[in-house]
Amino acid sequence: MIVTNTALAMIEKSHSNMPIEHLDRIVAICDVLQSELVETSESYKNYFSHPGDKENFLEAVQYHDIGKALIEQAVINKTSAISEDDYELMKSHVMGGLEEVDRAIQQGHITGERRIKFIRECILFHHERWDGTGYPQGAREIDIPHSARILAIADTYDSAMSPRPWKDALSTTEIYEYIVSESGISFDPSAVVAFKKTHDVIEELYPQEPKRVMAQ
Ligand SMILES: [Fe+2]
Repeated sequence: MIVTNTALAMIEKSHSNMPIEHLDRIVAICDVLQSELVETSESYKNYFSHPGDKENFLEAVQYHDIGKALIEQAVINKTSAISEDDYELMKSHVMGGLEEVDRAIQQGHITGERRIKFIRECILFHHERWDGTGYPQGAREIDIPHSARILAIADTYDSAMSPRPWKDALSTTEIYEYIVSESGISFDPSAVVAFKKTHDVIEELYPQEPKRVMAQ
């Protein structure tokens, strides 16, 4: 197990565990969705009401999978279906990431009240689902912070668009239909409305329809 000491080291380690473009595209999707939602939803507008909230949120998004640095690389890179034990280990990246960030906050490596709030929310809630069937807490609906509701859509979209050794990438049409079908199940319905309105912009982040690649 790798335990990092500073926020910077954690970010670098987190990056090393996933394609860098993945994080960049997630940030870009969150940017598009957040802009749309603060324009169209009073609830989101009130949530992102402090100066600098957008910048802090988009920075926080980059920390969301930081706990994967604590998970055995062998599990992350598995080329076959993962076992139940592996899945439980993968799920621990949420609380593991939060503990690492809290340590970095205590040591003064991460500062700023709003910044810390967004970072902790993005880590803790990014695998929660609107219907309460996510993890680690089973938080549901308005108990899930707006930041993590946006991130959940962006993370799902980019993960589905990215081929992995054990799975093909979906087309933009397939993942669009999946996210729309999960409105009120996995995702906040108002965030899905924003996703539908902005999908033509999001789609442009993926210049070419990804080719289906076979497992190697
Ligand atoms: Fe995650």
